[in-house]
Amino acid sequence: MPAPTTLLSLLEPHGEQHLLAYWDQLSEEERNGLQSQLMAIDWSEVTACKKLVEAHHEKKSIVKPQGFENIATPRCQKLGEQDTATSDALRRGHECLRTAQVGAILMAGGQGTRLGFNEPKGTFPIATISKATLFDVLLGQLRAIKKRFGSRIPLGIMTSASTDTATRKFLAEANFCGLDADQIFFFCQGNLPAVDATTGSLLLDACDHVAVAPDGHGGMLQALIEGGGLDWFRQQDCRTLVSFQVDNPLAKPLDPEFLGYHLLSGSSLSTQVIPKIDPEERVGVVTESDGVTRIIEYSDLPQPIAAERLPDGRLRFFAGSIGIHAFETHFLEDVASSQASLPLHIAHKKVPFINEHGRFIKPSAPNAFKFERFIFDLMPLADSVTVVEIDPAEGFAPLKNPSGASQDSPETVRQALNAYAIRHLEQAGIIVASGAHVEIDTASVFDDEDLRLIATSGVFPKNRIDGPHIIRAI
Ligand code: UD1
Repeated sequence: MPAPTTLLSLLEPHGEQHLLAYWDQLSEEERNGLQSQLMAIDWSEVTACKKLVEAHHEKKSIVKPQGFENIATPRCQKLGEQDTATSDALRRGHECLRTAQVGAILMAGGQGTRLGFNEPKGTFPIATISKATLFDVLLGQLRAIKKRFGSRIPLGIMTSASTDTATRKFLAEANFCGLDADQIFFFCQGNLPAVDATTGSLLLDACDHVAVAPDGHGGMLQALIEGGGLDWFRQQDCRTLVSFQVDNPLAKPLDPEFLGYHLLSGSSLSTQVIPKIDPEERVGVVTESDGVTRIIEYSDLPQPIAAERLPDGRLRFFAGSIGIHAFETHFLEDVASSQASLPLHIAHKKVPFINEHGRFIKPSAPNAFKFERFIFDLMPLADSVTVVEIDPAEGFAPLKNPSGASQDSPETVRQALNAYAIRHLEQAGIIVASGAHVEIDTASVFDDEDLRLIATSGVFPKNRIDGPHIIRAI
């Protein structure tokens, strides 16, 4: 049976008729599936992706020096730096949490290929003793806020086509990690087709399916609006939304002092950074040039520039992004209504495909380009951006690599979580025996005040912990 003319006339202007190469061999159901996928593709986006591939090839052939001369690191506000500022910010942050005028958005999409874990990353058992998952640890923080302030913080969870079904199922079976089901708004980010690196054409990854990949966390804004999420947050009076990544169990998106600095500054966007120490650290850096703040991704920062140091010894670009951004809701609405679209980024990746003989090929080297948008590209559109520096030991332990890797692995993350728990217990006056493991239950312990209460309650004789213990607030 020949392919329908509607499909041929859709594909011909883009030179993509080859996507119908197996049409004759498909069942009716498979044909319907392929037809719906092709009709749903935003072909103007495909044109933009292909233009980016051409530009990428041209840039490679004309090696131009990058202009980094006029770029600097912006002023950073340090958490806990000044007493008065800290207490004003804390007060404002506490008030925001008490009134629940803030919502949180957990980025739990993507494909999570680097970790080598087949399930959505959020379901990875990360806690040192309980083996609570990343979802438990992160969603738990909203329970602790409810316990302390009595308020219910709305949470958006962004999934991708590869994580959506499994995430919803896992969280439903886990009783939404103790949150109310209607406290959570699930929405799924979009996809963009991958493009063959040699021919510049789209690829099939099955005879009836075009190879696509998640459109990057920058797809959040469009997905949130199309799914009704922005209205959902607005109906609950959330004036600020904080997005954070599922891979960091030490993340404190709703840290009251951070929220306070954001709100007191009047900025439409604020972001948390850590001081980058090693030029090799795979974190994007927050930069400023001509009053415009933006993040330059680590893969876009040439090594010699990344290694440059200031006279005081710090890296010239030291403000490492940890992917926690606070946005004013009206700013997101303004961007959405202005039709401004975030730039596309290109990445050379391995994409399995069907070759011209109909064989499924799993390439061993990058063969295609994938395209993503980054949510932090909203920064240059903000009238002002507040950058808040935090201590990495307090808020950044990302899980990126499989067990056994020297950094950002389950082992290094658990070490960081244990060290964090020991340090905070000791600050509260509870001594932890050398070598003992302790875990702070994020669902009940909101801050050091809860730990001090434990210390004065006499729960631990002589305020000493000798063996493994999960610390729950009283
Ligand atoms: C990311 C940041 C980098 C930052 C670092 C901190 C980007 C492009 N870069 O790098 O600037 O310094 O984290 O850890 O984000 N995600 C989605 N959908 C997607 C892609 C990603 O939800 O389509 C989520 C993932 O679930 C993940 C997070 O975003 O939690 C980060 O994505 P990843 O691709 O792992 O970024 P990194 O290269 O680690």
